[in-house]
Amino acid sequence: MEKLLNIISDKVSAAFAQAGYEASYGRVTVSNRPDLCEYQCNGALPAAKLYHKAPIQIARDVAARLAEDPAFSEVQAAMPGFLNLKLSPAFLAAYLEQTRTAPRFGVEPDPKAGAVVIDYGGANVAKPLHIGHLRSAIIGESIKRIQRFFGAETIGDTHLGDWGLQMGLVIAGLQERQPELCYYDESFTGPYPEEAPFTISDLEEIYPAASARSKVDEAFAARAHDYTVRLQHGEPGPYALWQHIMRVSKADLRKNYDRLGVHFEAWLGESDAQPYIPEMLREMDEKGILVESEGARVIEVQEPADTREIPPCILIKSDGATLYATTDLATIKQRMQTWAPSKILYVVDKRQSLHFEQVFRSARKAGLVKPETELRHIGFGTMNGKDGKPFKTRSGGVMRLETLINEITDFVRAKVVENKLVGDEDVENVTAKIAMAALKYGDLMNAPTKDYVFDLDRFAAFEGNTGPYILYTVVRIKSILARYGAWEELPIRAPETPEAKDLMLALTRLPDALELAYRDCAPNLICAYIYELAGCANKFYHETHILTEEDPEKQKGYVALVGLTKRVLETCIDLLGFEAPEKM
Ligand code: ARG
Repeated sequence: MEKLLNIISDKVSAAFAQAGYEASYGRVTVSNRPDLCEYQCNGALPAAKLYHKAPIQIARDVAARLAEDPAFSEVQAAMPGFLNLKLSPAFLAAYLEQTRTAPRFGVEPDPKAGAVVIDYGGANVAKPLHIGHLRSAIIGESIKRIQRFFGAETIGDTHLGDWGLQMGLVIAGLQERQPELCYYDESFTGPYPEEAPFTISDLEEIYPAASARSKVDEAFAARAHDYTVRLQHGEPGPYALWQHIMRVSKADLRKNYDRLGVHFEAWLGESDAQPYIPEMLREMDEKGILVESEGARVIEVQEPADTREIPPCILIKSDGATLYATTDLATIKQRMQTWAPSKILYVVDKRQSLHFEQVFRSARKAGLVKPETELRHIGFGTMNGKDGKPFKTRSGGVMRLETLINEITDFVRAKVVENKLVGDEDVENVTAKIAMAALKYGDLMNAPTKDYVFDLDRFAAFEGNTGPYILYTVVRIKSILARYGAWEELPIRAPETPEAKDLMLALTRLPDALELAYRDCAPNLICAYIYELAGCANKFYHETHILTEEDPEKQKGYVALVGLTKRVLETCIDLLGFEAPEKM
């Protein structure tokens, strides 16, 4: 569907041309003086220079040609040469009626979207999820849904950290507790038990203890390192233990991500990229891009246009070990072979931006991707506490994601119960939905790169720019619609009040908001849009007696308008990754 701004711009451009001026001066924008007009065109000002005329004269010439156009209820030439425009109610209603009946509200899919891999989550196996992974999960899930809305075939891949030293540490740590396990017996001929010899709580104790110990106990650190190497060589005992760790850990991760409404299409990890490394290195060697540097093998990625130093990307250390970057490059190879994506989007802490710059440049030099394949790092900032420092527990430790979710849920539940928002049987369900809206909207309303302060009181407030406020608006409309009856087929009617018109104008801006959010991978633009839309919806609700209106035709128009508003809001919050309850 053609966007409203383009339709109006075409009309104004045609009027410029008819009046004898260059049509390109007819570009229209949303008014920055809503008190004066809805749309404006400033083209007469630059045109004046070219045609050596007073801008107001040009504006008047154009306005005269637009006077008869039924799309406008008002066309004014204002000093020094602005064109102020207002849409006619009938034209606006006809446009929104198309929006209402078109699939996806008339937003056009991206014909070039293709397959898109979104690398997010990034949890590390055997280590508990912490809030550092929270932003990646929330932002990544939303970006994935936005990509999908625009027609991409999306593959969300968690890219688990499942292959590093932490595995050796857990294996060595477990040995301290249970040295008699068959996995440590080199003469054991199997088969190994199916049941893991530990639970997730054990794992959560083992890793931090082993990590701390490795810093003070050299022999232990050496054992952990040794186990890592043996695992990487596929030795049966360590390998069988690793598989147990993976199973137990993934089940726990899945539980946490489910609670967050975050779902991955692929649960691949660093370990899955390892088989691609030898061939990749061979090909890089053949291309002659792997160079020797102080015993290591690296790819030079500095470019003449760089204004800062970009150090070489190290692929093999002098001791023969491969690194994080090696794995990321092999993962690109694996993804290209498996899905041939048009884009790979990485939703990872912005402190890793140099790493991704090196990896992307190396991938291009090595020809791992096509020239047109987009590789993009969406780096996000830190979630801080009210003290402005990275969010910690009260005792100063790193807070576990599960604890954080529980805290938010308890806080919201208390409000739900205290205000008697719903009957007992609905408390948990409604609480969970409000909690997710508070948490996710509180995060997503900020541009991803920005650091932000986690403030539960503010995030969970039912008023102001918050997730619960948006939910509240949706729920309020749902209740009107439920009391009215069948509303789905009612057509949009011309607005009669300023509040109705403002709400309709806000609805016409949906495609612009979604397209920018898609182009820039910026869910915050959707938040800004629905905050504005919800504001208009609430003003309309206050000024209009929807359910008590006596004129049935008028009433149908009101109901159709809030019905469309509800569908738009629900679509938007689904793109952000949360949903509204029936009541609250
Ligand atoms: N596991 C990593 C971490 O915790 C994040 C992985 C991000 N993705 C990637 N392809 N490097 O920092």
